[in-house]
Amino acid sequence: MDIDVVILAAGKGSRMKSAKPKVLQTLAGKSLLAHVLETARTIDNAKQHVVIGHEAEQIKQCFVEQGDIHWAMQTEQLGTGHAVAQAVDQCSDRGITLVLYGDVPLVAKETLTALIKQAQAHEVALLTVKLDNPTGYGRIVRDQEQAITAIVEQKDANAEQLKISEVNSGILALNTALVKQLIPELKNNNAQGEYYLTDIIALAKAQSKHIASIVCTDEIEVQGVNDKKQLAQLERAYQAKLADKLLEQGVSLADPKRIDIRGSLNASMDVFIDVNCVFQGDVSLGENVSIAANCVIGEPGKTVVIGANTQIKANSVIEQASIGSNCMIGPYARIRPTTILANNSKIGNFVETKNANIADGAKVNHLSYVGDVEIGANANIGAGTITCNYDGVNKHKTEIAEGAFIGSNSSLVAPVRVGIGATVGAGSTITSNVADEQLAVARGKQRTISGWKKPEKK
Ligand code: UD1
Ligand code: CA
Repeated sequence: MDIDVVILAAGKGSRMKSAKPKVLQTLAGKSLLAHVLETARTIDNAKQHVVIGHEAEQIKQCFVEQGDIHWAMQTEQLGTGHAVAQAVDQCSDRGITLVLYGDVPLVAKETLTALIKQAQAHEVALLTVKLDNPTGYGRIVRDQEQAITAIVEQKDANAEQLKISEVNSGILALNTALVKQLIPELKNNNAQGEYYLTDIIALAKAQSKHIASIVCTDEIEVQGVNDKKQLAQLERAYQAKLADKLLEQGVSLADPKRIDIRGSLNASMDVFIDVNCVFQGDVSLGENVSIAANCVIGEPGKTVVIGANTQIKANSVIEQASIGSNCMIGPYARIRPTTILANNSKIGNFVETKNANIADGAKVNHLSYVGDVEIGANANIGAGTITCNYDGVNKHKTEIAEGAFIGSNSSLVAPVRVGIGATVGAGSTITSNVADEQLAVARGKQRTISGWKKPEKK
């Protein structure tokens, strides 16, 4: 059966007090609307419609690469029923329309498929939730037989109805032909002067339809975001859930409250993650990897792979890299794209790598910049070594072959090659190739002046 997902995202979201439209605010590194769209995409045979109005162009721009979205314009926000009306013409008569909210980001695929199933059987299916504090929500009205008869908005409810703790999540699935038939019957004679989508329930009931419902047991799924406080609370609730999942998989977290995952983190058994680490993009950690405090691993849209038993020490930043097993990185290392570290290699404190291919057992231990470089197996790069890869116009490559030894505080002016087993004396500026096994020294010769007298104070 055809499924049309209609995501409502036309509202302004003034309570966010932001120049950015509400649905572009981010949760776990991704916009609220992106969360909803991603879940909607997991539903088989579903077509995506997004109703936009406020800052419509800005929202569309963020999803230009997703050419399969049908954007419906709602120039005036006259209510949720009016919003759905802007998209419904494009929905298939023979299917189900699933209504989602752009500001309710964490609804789960399983919940939606269950709701769609109910709608296929009964034409109308609502996702409800029981709340200790139902203030602000539409209340679910049931008769003596527990059948749903209507949804009453907070502002239109009487004292008796206000006591109802079961509320409308806003998410519902309906037979599309029925939606098309009932939407023109919606009236705006209510407290807010809006065309409420929720009034469809009473209209369907009047046609003797059974209103099916699913009571959502995980509140986080139906929580909407209206202001920065709710956004922060939902972020923490979501992060707590992700941390729980990691703990269940056998990952050790020094403090489950102090980890942030803004992308996907795939961690094997016995991984240890200390406090205040942030993971972005797609990160995977092999068995027994340890990440010390205050590390930022990964960047949005990038990949980091870290092999078994590797240790990342405190305050390191890894942007994009493939790191082998038994490596040691940091503290205070910066690993930039595209770094490839083979097994057993070492990157020490205050070392920056970029476009670096570093072979098995090589060491860059202190205060260095190695960029556009090939470093051979077991090479040793002394403290303060810099690859001068940029001449102000173009980037050039440095090659340091297997077993080479670069003395401290050397500058390697690319393009240049230091051969297998070659040695560079400390403080050298190397501008031409060094052959295998040779020693190159390129620095001012030391003079020692005997009998030299210190100047005296005048
Ligand atoms: C709505 C429901 C309420 C439910 C609550 C759950 C209605 C009438 N009420 O109330 O029963 O408990 O959600 O959070 O549906 N929007 C548009 N165009 C409009 C109006 C709204 O696109 O003309 C979008 C908003 O951007 C938002 C969503 O629809 O994403 C919900 O609208 P909002 O005005 O926040 O509805 P609530 O009053 O919260
Ligand atoms: Ca709302």
